[in-house]
Amino acid sequence: MIQKAIDILKKSRSLFVLTGAGISAESGIPTFRDADGLWKNYSATDLATPDAFRKDPALVWEWYHWRQDIIRCAQPNTAHQALVAMENRMESFLLLTQNVDNLHQRAGSRNILELHGSIFRARCLNCRATYAYGIEKMPDTVSPPTCPCGGILRPDVVWFGEMIPQDIWHAALAFCATADTVLICGTSGVVWPAAALPGYAQEHGSTIIEINLEPTPASNVVDVAIKGRAGKILPALVENL
Ligand code: OAD
Repeated sequence: MIQKAIDILKKSRSLFVLTGAGISAESGIPTFRDADGLWKNYSATDLATPDAFRKDPALVWEWYHWRQDIIRCAQPNTAHQALVAMENRMESFLLLTQNVDNLHQRAGSRNILELHGSIFRARCLNCRATYAYGIEKMPDTVSPPTCPCGGILRPDVVWFGEMIPQDIWHAALAFCATADTVLICGTSGVVWPAAALPGYAQEHGSTIIEINLEPTPASNVVDVAIKGRAGKILPALVENL
């Protein structure tokens, strides 16, 4: 399977990559749906919906501050680094991530779009201004933080029941439609609209490679499904290109 993926990538001039929480798992950041995933231990309804924030903004911020602390201390891993090397080798490249952790950017990825926002940005509910937020640990964090305009700040991430940023989604679809190869890594493939991408790529004639610890709904439509750790498989692919 790895050799088949190497052969496909060697012939590729344009590569579209979709990543999920699994790619950051080896950096020590919890995923959502694995055995010890966040949604196994915390309620999405209480923490990641607009209603939850209206009801208890301090609780939601407490959870996001905790996640910021974990992510801030984490380092990009060999999977993030391998994607930087892949980007350098391709004529054209786009990385669409569902992750909010900034690790792809810290590793050095350049053509990257964040589908679900960033945990290190906050947005004002009143004036909609966005701010870099939480990159440095804040002593005695005020919860919920407020904007100079007086409005309450919320994490600038996409919550359940919210629209994803349409400009980002359309840019991703446009690139995906023309990509020779689509690489899907570390996502359970159950959250829409990202879950639509494997079928979309197939309809548009891309060759699709998946890397995951377990089979996903996408495994049925991909050309090559590699079972294994992203931090091991991705470097093995890049080394042989
Ligand atoms: P999930 O937690 O749903 O899926 C992570 C996937 O990564 C699983 O299929 C794991 O088997 C796989 N995995 C874990 N460790 C891995 C490793 N070292 N190498 C390769 N694969 C590994 O996370 P996502 O698919 O990213 O959305 O979840 C999608 C969205 O659901 C998230 O962005 C988040 C969540 O609710 C929002 O918060 C809006």
